[in-house]
Amino acid sequence: MDRRDFLKKSAAATIVTMGSSLILSSCRRNLRSELMSIDNFSGKTEKLDENFYKILTYASLAPSGHNSQPWSVKIISANEWIVGSDSNRWLPEVDGSNREVMLSIGAFVENIVQAASSFGYRVETTIITQNSFDPDVVKLIISKSKSLDVSLQRIVARRTVKSHMLSKELKISDVNDFSKSVDGRLFYFPVGTDHARLMDNEAVENYILQSDHKKAMEELASWVRFKDNDAKKFRDGLTTDGMEITGLAGWYVRHFMDKKDVMTKAFSDKGIEKIRAQVKEGAGWLVITSDGNSVKDLIETGRRFQRMALTAREKMIAIHPMTQALEEKQGQKNIKENHGAGMIPQFMLRVGYLNKYPDPVSLRRPVEWFVKT
Ligand SMILES: Cc1cc2nc3c(=O)[nH]c(=O)nc-3n(C[C@H](O)[C@H](O)[C@H](O)COP(=O)(O)O)c2cc1C
Repeated sequence: MDRRDFLKKSAAATIVTMGSSLILSSCRRNLRSELMSIDNFSGKTEKLDENFYKILTYASLAPSGHNSQPWSVKIISANEWIVGSDSNRWLPEVDGSNREVMLSIGAFVENIVQAASSFGYRVETTIITQNSFDPDVVKLIISKSKSLDVSLQRIVARRTVKSHMLSKELKISDVNDFSKSVDGRLFYFPVGTDHARLMDNEAVENYILQSDHKKAMEELASWVRFKDNDAKKFRDGLTTDGMEITGLAGWYVRHFMDKKDVMTKAFSDKGIEKIRAQVKEGAGWLVITSDGNSVKDLIETGRRFQRMALTAREKMIAIHPMTQALEEKQGQKNIKENHGAGMIPQFMLRVGYLNKYPDPVSLRRPVEWFVKT
């Protein structure tokens, strides 16, 4: 090797080394802890004192479809709030009846009630509409009370977990605890049973069906936040971390892909491949049902779901909602035919034990962005 060759090769090696260490450090970033450390939980506004501000920050950690965070809060007075739904955050293509919006708002209300009780407040909730498109949904009356020993930590540490589930059945005691947290409206279909296989199939088939619906994909694309700048600007939607596109693949998507790529065949093929792999993991399926489809039924079901998700966090159990089969007509028909009359499935959840529960990664809007005074 002559001197020129040697210099060229070592320059390339330096660039590769520098590049890969940059890539690696950019893979390791954690936007959630950067933007939402516990210090950011403190604050106050003209109408919200520090405790109420914190309670609403904890509430905002609730799960929601596409992480759209469809809630708003009107502060009528210090002790009377109205939790409502923000029409800019609905998902009309996949959730035309606002069923999922109501379930997500229910999870948000559950977090308010739990966080408030830890800060020494009792919250009385009243559903004030029968229309899931109404901007005002739940009235909250807040009064001082004894502080309860409720874990705020599990609200912070819960997340949707989609991979690395262990494939062993849930213990009966865990299923019983889950059943208690959803007031008995729960069915468990263990891995390896015919029914679990049917659910696997419905999850995959309806995911594939939905990937072909241009408008549903356009809606998904509008909630995708591939670029860190977008994620920081909007603090909602689906980031690469939230979609569990990790490591180098995540780095590549963040730097070289755009919303319009969500509409490509290559992107949907990757998604389908991932879903097929996901349904092979885990302990099977949990289905949370409701007695009806009224706003009250859906808000209560969202609250129950969140109670169960928090219990699951304590138990190191992953919960992964897979909703396409409840959104697509074909899936709705098949799921209905395979469950008893009067049993209305509201959540289809893959479930499984984990060796390690991953840190939460999805972002949330600060309180000021969803509180209306
Ligand atoms: C009603 C509802 C439906 C959901 N459906 C899906 C789904 O079909 N697939 C999925 O991967 N996650 C689904 N999720 C999980 C959300 O994407 C997740 O809660 C959101 O991105 C915030 O992330 P986090 O739960 O980790 O905080 C759903 C959540 C809710 C409340």
